[in-house]
Amino acid sequence: MSTHARPRVFSGIQPTGGIHIGNYLGAIKGWVARQDEKENYFCIVDLHALTVPQDPAALREQVWMMTALLLAAGLDPARCTLFVQSHVRAHAEACWLLNCITPLGWLQRMTQYKDKSARHETVLTGLLDYPVLMAGDILLYDTDEVPVGEDQKQHVELARDIAGRFNHHHGDFFTLPRAVIPEIGARIMGLDDPTAKMSKSLAHVEGHAIRLLDPPKAIERALKRAVTDSGREIRFSDAPEKAGVNNLLAIYKAITGRSAAEVEDDFATARGYGDLKQRVADVVVAELAPLQARYAQYRADPAELERCLARGAAQAAAVAEPKLAALKARMGLVVPVGG
Ligand code: AMP
Ligand code: TRP
Repeated sequence: MSTHARPRVFSGIQPTGGIHIGNYLGAIKGWVARQDEKENYFCIVDLHALTVPQDPAALREQVWMMTALLLAAGLDPARCTLFVQSHVRAHAEACWLLNCITPLGWLQRMTQYKDKSARHETVLTGLLDYPVLMAGDILLYDTDEVPVGEDQKQHVELARDIAGRFNHHHGDFFTLPRAVIPEIGARIMGLDDPTAKMSKSLAHVEGHAIRLLDPPKAIERALKRAVTDSGREIRFSDAPEKAGVNNLLAIYKAITGRSAAEVEDDFATARGYGDLKQRVADVVVAELAPLQARYAQYRADPAELERCLARGAAQAAAVAEPKLAALKARMGLVVPVGG
């Protein structure tokens, strides 16, 4: 069980393009806000990205882009460990070991696997195995909390089940992790279709998403086009026809950190949805402008990004490698002299 002074937090993000305001509000902003409370590990999961076909040059570029974006968003390498998954070998090795205790049926019933495999003609083994790699990420760090959007909850629960199964067979060894879902921003919906989640794979579609590096004009344009309803009422609501307005209010609320009542109050005097959209655009632009400026600075200094990742990998390995060695020993592997 967990014995560290501060709760351990681990989360991962794929280095794929199209990072949008849903990723930011559902995941990254929360990571940044809680850096001091917990002991944090944030991982750019390039091995997970390989579970669907990638162009090698594009993937490499995305890793640099993601590193710069996370730093620009406020992750501070002095207060957290930021690293790239493939730089710490223990992750791939842990995946193999955990594969050998994970029933196939557990993987076949994962919702994300079912969705993604339906969309690809050839389904790669890695896609099915994705949650086991993720379980390794989490369990190697004796993680207590895994902050993720709602869509990843099932995978975190699987990691917990794998840990429980291991502990049952081999004695108490893994900390049981739990998913921490942000209350607001957990599910930002598409601007063009507020009944479906804003998605990276649709981020290039005009009017679907706000991407973190979009210029102010593009942000305003996307919000102006956002689907709403034919009414005028600006308040939070579960009614299906109010999904668009609800989503805009959710974005505003997550950015400003105001309560639902305060947000509704802010819009009490608004003149219709045009006004709402403009004011949401204003807060989004104001939130992203400093991030975009810092992003440009980091991209202009690749040596700094490299140093930062090297330090992160060394810090992560210092935790993951001893755990992996202990895992191997528990499973009956002979640990060679020197580790
Ligand atoms: P992914 O885009 O799957 O790599 O997700 C990166 C992180 O952003 C994960 O924690 C997701 O749960 C979260 N996320 C992805 N899409 C959304 C969304 N539309 N709203 C809120 N969080 C999201
Ligand atoms: N599967 C997660 C996603 O797509 C990314 C991820 C990989 C992750 N390993 C993780 C998240 C470990 C939390 C913990 O969003």
